[in-house]
Amino acid sequence: MTTGNASDDVPAGSTPAAADCILRCPYCREALQRQERAYRCPSGHSFDIARQGYVNLLPAAQRRSKDPGDNRDMILARRRFLESGFYAPISDAINGVVAAALSGAPHRPARNVLDAGAGEGYYLARLGAALTSLPVAPLPALYGVDISRHGMQYATHRSKAITWLVASVVDLPVASASLDVVLSVFAPFAPAEFRRVLRPDGALVVVGPGPHHLYALRQQIYAEVTPHEPEQFLPTLAPSFTPLSERRLGYELTVTTGEQIGDLLTMTPFGWNIDQARRAAVEATAPLRTAVDVAIRLFRPIAGPAEPVRPSRRALTRPSPASPAACRPPATP
Ligand SMILES: C[S@@+](CC[C@H](N)C(=O)[O-])C[C@H]1O[C@@H](n2cnc3c(N)ncnc32)[C@H](O)[C@@H]1O
Ligand SMILES: [Zn+2]
Repeated sequence: MTTGNASDDVPAGSTPAAADCILRCPYCREALQRQERAYRCPSGHSFDIARQGYVNLLPAAQRRSKDPGDNRDMILARRRFLESGFYAPISDAINGVVAAALSGAPHRPARNVLDAGAGEGYYLARLGAALTSLPVAPLPALYGVDISRHGMQYATHRSKAITWLVASVVDLPVASASLDVVLSVFAPFAPAEFRRVLRPDGALVVVGPGPHHLYALRQQIYAEVTPHEPEQFLPTLAPSFTPLSERRLGYELTVTTGEQIGDLLTMTPFGWNIDQARRAAVEATAPLRTAVDVAIRLFRPIAGPAEPVRPSRRALTRPSPASPAACRPPATP
């Protein structure tokens, strides 16, 4: 199966220099300029570029814990699982939707795509690689944002040409109306903030679970399995976005080994509340056949003044509270 390692195959337009144009200081909102080992704003705020190549632009006040977002174990489990190619069809379908959105947009000399909640970079790195062989010109500069520094550390291994940023989706450190596409894959999203950063003719691509996603896996965990209700997040987007299209993708997945089932549990909320004995029993069901059922939805921002940035927990939305992709334990999966 295809792996997600795209480090040698990245769009030429996605250079760190391009990042200078749209990155904004998280404290004063002025433009950030890249210097050799740091980004600086005119007011003197400075952000070191980590040894691995990502930049931490998350203000301390926005950290709700010492180590926000997915922890290292979750990031590594997701990385191993995705590297096995199990979700490559999802990634391929996303690439087609984003490429079509870029091709249909008016020509611009420079374009920007941001993955909000990029995890360890699998989808964005594969998008960067795919765009080089698709009729998309000019190639966009790519930005990956995640609140997990572990995610961004591992993402830098996937591509050095993508700008990887530790930041929150509720307060993106980019200029208003600067992005052509915002991508949100199984991640929390912030509708008002996404509208602020998108150009008026930009596109929001939201990927989340359909009703049957990983159904057989969930049957191994819960006495009663309720289908996901992907529609329930749509009203939260309504004040900021108009739905344009939806693509459903479904296929059967065989998770071959117990270790891979373990990784799937660790990277989803399913594994967070089960005890060791139950986890071992679920892993022992390998090989496990289960459904993949996802929806890729395309939205257009609703015209109007961009709303001010007000970072708050309430600004966060998740594709579905029962989503296997949600980042914190769901109330009742
Ligand atoms: C289920 S994972 C999906 C990651 C990636 N899109 C993928 O599908 O491989 C959700 C990601 O959202 C990140 N996250 C959670 N809250 C966030 C926030 N407020 N801002 C940015 N990222 C956040 C987590 O750290 C995690 O990497
Ligand atoms: Zn500043």
